[in-house]
Amino acid sequence: MCGIVGYVGTRQAAPEVYRGLLRLEYRGYDSVGLAVLNGSSLGVVRKKGKVDAVREEIGGMIGTIGIGHTRWATHGAPSERNAHPLRSGKFAIVHNGIIENYRALREELEANGFVFSSDTDSETIAHLFALYDRGDLRETLRAVVRRLEVSFAIAALCEGAPNVIAAARRNSPLIVGRGETGYYLASDIPALAGCVQTVTVLKNGDMALVCADRVQIFDDRGEVRRQEQVCSLRAETLERGDNAHFMLKEMKETPQTIRNTISNFAERVRLEPFLPLFRKLKKIHLIGCGTAYHSGLAGKLAIERLARVPAEACIASEYRYGDPILGDDTLAIAVSQSGETADTIAAAQLDRESGTPLFVVTNVAHSSMASLADLVVPTIAGAETAVAATKSYNGQLTALYLLAAAIAAARGADAKRAEEELNRYPERCEEALSRLEEVERVAQKFKDAKNVCFLGRGVDHAAALEGSLKLKEIAYIPSEGYPAGELKHGPIALIDGRSLVVAIMTQRRLAEKTFNAVAEVRARGAKIFLITPFEEYARREGVDDCFLLPKCGELFSPVLSVIPLQALAYYTAVARGNDPDRPRNLAKSVTVE
Ligand code: F6R
Repeated sequence: MCGIVGYVGTRQAAPEVYRGLLRLEYRGYDSVGLAVLNGSSLGVVRKKGKVDAVREEIGGMIGTIGIGHTRWATHGAPSERNAHPLRSGKFAIVHNGIIENYRALREELEANGFVFSSDTDSETIAHLFALYDRGDLRETLRAVVRRLEVSFAIAALCEGAPNVIAAARRNSPLIVGRGETGYYLASDIPALAGCVQTVTVLKNGDMALVCADRVQIFDDRGEVRRQEQVCSLRAETLERGDNAHFMLKEMKETPQTIRNTISNFAERVRLEPFLPLFRKLKKIHLIGCGTAYHSGLAGKLAIERLARVPAEACIASEYRYGDPILGDDTLAIAVSQSGETADTIAAAQLDRESGTPLFVVTNVAHSSMASLADLVVPTIAGAETAVAATKSYNGQLTALYLLAAAIAAARGADAKRAEEELNRYPERCEEALSRLEEVERVAQKFKDAKNVCFLGRGVDHAAALEGSLKLKEIAYIPSEGYPAGELKHGPIALIDGRSLVVAIMTQRRLAEKTFNAVAEVRARGAKIFLITPFEEYARREGVDDCFLLPKCGELFSPVLSVIPLQALAYYTAVARGNDPDRPRNLAKSVTVE
């Protein structure tokens, strides 16, 4: 949430910062702004809306040192008034995170004569810089950071220090990149791909002074060294190519994500030290938010079926304030594409503090969450730019299924067949992806549905919840996912002739039962879109449309059945004139509580 970028070097800073902001737009697009320092004069541009709102102004911003920000509003409405960079005296700052003690700080700063010109928590940071300024930027930065609670990544420019960006992070990510023409700062690595040779991931509590030819990193105790790594991410992989949207491109990358996650698991994930743990496990908690929680639901079913260990999928924001029963015979698995989701990090911290072994399934190996883990299980999905998670969900499912099979094997069960079955999914997904135009037609037909109900049992219910989330977040149609047998206990009251019911049916033994629920909603006027590998049901009376899945096993089917669900959300959003990559009110990587 919110993206920040900085550049200091020999090039004009504004175009460098602007390019980085475009890549960070998935973190928020309520407002955008840049500050460029030209000698001792700060030029600032701020606009409401997406990053390209400042495109025209970039050419007029002269100077080789600059910072920028793309915002997801927390405190203060999305407006130019609340856009960053925020200024106080000689300083301009950009901030990602939430300053939880901002009310007290604001009162104190106002008592000191500072006048606030925005409704943001972030403006307190700019005024603190001005308050503590004694002419030594390093000391000023240290004094400011000491006052801030609790989550921030910041970058600041000072008119008295024309060659340096001051930066700091705690609980929000910040990366330093070294390029041929200077140094960069950004909230994540994709923003820097193609511009830098190396990246350095700052740790919690780090501060930095970034100049054109060097960077100094320090914490409260003094100077620190952080590992500089080669940046291998290629800029071309971040383009959407011929695809109309990133979401479509990313859906098409699902088969490769599954293949890469499987081979990386086999080659790089070292499970030997955890085999004794697997044998003694009494309970597994799968923790995540949104889509990651939904993959936890499917993962739970696979773990219970294959390894016979009781498992529970937990919503991170509930878990962190609940009273979970933890201990060294419980395994916590935090699931997160970004590895930066604040609630999931807090839940993972709770596990760590209680001595509960912690695995992190994530797409970002250098993320804050990964740094807490006893074991990182990577999903190799590559960068995901569209706000709605697609291929990363399939990657998470794959990683969880592999873990389920490994735990089962350690406990003496035969998991070979399950592993072989998983290997068949990339091809099945390719087959489903080759027929997306069928879903496009369905989306056109039902784009004005009043509400959409996704039905399924067991693993199909897990997939139904994900299908419903996708549709809500990008098509803005009220929708719910329900266990097929639960509908008649209340929600069926919502069904009428303007409802669409999407039924997911991949388990032979439950097909007829699920179809009973289909018949019940059909009798009340709903239109039916069936997703199943069972051809005979496609021809059943009452089915308006059917997406025939390739033949598949029952346990891992959400990897496949989610493809038409993601596509339904995508094509419905497009048919309704929405931008599926940047849905309203949302941002990817929810780094605030
Ligand atoms: C939905 C979506 C969100 C994320 C959730 C967790 O399409 O993208 O629900 O799944 O915000 O994000 P991560 O996985 O980064 O922790």
